[in-house]
Amino acid sequence: MELFETILNRRSIRNFTGKPIPKEDLERMVDAGRLAPSATNRQMWNFIVITRREILDDVLHHFHASRKYETFEDGKCDGASAIIAVVMDEVNEYWREDGSAAAENILLAAKALGYGSCWIEGQVRPHEEHFRELLSIPKGKRILLMIALGHPVKWPPSPAKKALSEILHWERYREP
Ligand SMILES: Cc1cc2nc3c(=O)[nH]c(=O)nc-3n(C[C@H](O)[C@H](O)[C@H](O)COP(=O)(O)O)c2cc1C
Repeated sequence: MELFETILNRRSIRNFTGKPIPKEDLERMVDAGRLAPSATNRQMWNFIVITRREILDDVLHHFHASRKYETFEDGKCDGASAIIAVVMDEVNEYWREDGSAAAENILLAAKALGYGSCWIEGQVRPHEEHFRELLSIPKGKRILLMIALGHPVKWPPSPAKKALSEILHWERYREP
């Protein structure tokens, strides 16, 4: 799929059919993450691909549990067939930006390969300690976010996005 078409058509998917994703496709997504820019090219990331049902169910159960906090969106991610955890070394002040750049590459790669994805961060934070233990993450590394992946039950319409004219300024900031 052409890049701009992929960007245009990507959207967060939170309901999946449960059909598995081939390992090669998951590897290609992580490969796209690996190629993202990072501050001073430090690449202090690791990616854990979760496909085993009992681990997926544990993580999804914790996503469900977060829904009681109304600040989090409805990221149940039912039927997700894989989750990629983006694990970062907190080596410099840019670890969140670096991990986010990798995550966006993964979301776009997933779409280009025909899969749905959802960036889950708000629902990871309250359970980070539990997930660190579940995934055997060593000291000094943080789970920045997780990406739920799968075959979408349906592709929903894009949520409303601001118009280009609302946010584009040429040469200097101008009030609309
Ligand atoms: C930093 C960040 C945190 C997010 N955390 C969650 C989350 O915890 N749960 C969820 O369902 N979606 C989460 N999302 C996805 C956003 O809700 C989604 O991108 C937004 O509503 C726009 O929809 P779109 O991705 O379809 O364009 C997160 C996105 C970002 C960038």
